[in-house]
Amino acid sequence: MEATSRPPDGPFGLLAELTYECPLHCPYCSNPLALADYREELTTAQWRRVLAEAAELGVLQLHLSGGEPLRRRDLVEIVHRAAERGLYTNLITSALGLSPRRAEQLRAAGLDHVQISVQADDPALSDRLAGTPSFERKTAAARLVKELGWPLTLNVVLHRHNIDRIDRVLALAEKLAADRVELANTQYYGWAWRNRRELLPSTDQLRRAEAVVRAARERLKGRMEIIYVLPDYHGRYPKPCMGGWGRRQLTVVPNGDVLPCPAAHALPLPRASVHEHSLAWIWERSPLFTRFRGTAWMPEPCRSCDRRELDFGGCRCQAFQLTGDAARTDPVCHLSPDHGIVVEAVRAAEEAVRADEGAVRADDDAVLPRGGVLTP
Ligand code: SF4
Ligand code: FES
Repeated sequence: MEATSRPPDGPFGLLAELTYECPLHCPYCSNPLALADYREELTTAQWRRVLAEAAELGVLQLHLSGGEPLRRRDLVEIVHRAAERGLYTNLITSALGLSPRRAEQLRAAGLDHVQISVQADDPALSDRLAGTPSFERKTAAARLVKELGWPLTLNVVLHRHNIDRIDRVLALAEKLAADRVELANTQYYGWAWRNRRELLPSTDQLRRAEAVVRAARERLKGRMEIIYVLPDYHGRYPKPCMGGWGRRQLTVVPNGDVLPCPAAHALPLPRASVHEHSLAWIWERSPLFTRFRGTAWMPEPCRSCDRRELDFGGCRCQAFQLTGDAARTDPVCHLSPDHGIVVEAVRAAEEAVRADEGAVRADDDAVLPRGGVLTP
């Protein structure tokens, strides 16, 4: 196999992070830590231009996210413009703010799909993880979504404090008639990185979870799709993050910066912005998007590895987070010279889970994150 850095075809999906405002305070929030840099949000007219350029570039799917996208007053207008351009629109929301009136407006504007996050199946645990009472409103909004005829995805971020409840999370998804449930193990960047000691599950917890998911997939075949996003730290190989850097997706964040993945703002790389360039130029030629595209940039052991076109050396943000160098092999890979960092993190998690289990026996409430957990 020859090393490549050729530009790919156009991007398939655009993640539009419309605003970082959010009513929730989850301990694994994917918002950037330096929120002040993003207060100046793109206007409706600027988003219109971005959507037009995205459609020309070949984007088919638009994921409207945040923060909480319902905080944008012009969300209906943005959906309308995207639908006019023929984009498939998916609203990724906490559902706080999805009133019947707003939902009707979004339906009329052409919104295709709704993804609602819940933090757990249990109202008290979900509210505690969200940092605000929200569970009842989320489930009411999920029912509304189904009444209006939208396909519904229920998204649950998994970590040490809810992963043992997957069976009950799946029962909740069935009760809400979700078409799809996405069980996504936490990715450790940003706030989740800060809270990693509190959130990382043990290997035993993951084994139990995977067995539950396997059985549920069999039982619910043809009725509900179950996506289980594997945890990075416990695998032998990394995932092809975002399908490869600058290969299939792009992200536009509230201030107009364009990124190959939502976490890339933390990397010491040149910026790209819709204020200065077209999406086409950014996708095809910007130093940011070309930096880790393909395989030519790779160090050993990736450079001579047979899997290099399968996982593209793993996740650049994770390599940077764990080693301080985004150009190293993802330490999640067991072939990486830095793999010991991940082994040590998992070992620490095993110990913490044992301590949690001891605490639960003493005080049932102690399993919930408290005290040391940082929130946005
Ligand atoms: Fe993937 Fe690199 Fe590990 Fe090979 S060495 S499996 S290409 S991360
Ligand atoms: Fe940025 Fe993986 S999250 S490359």
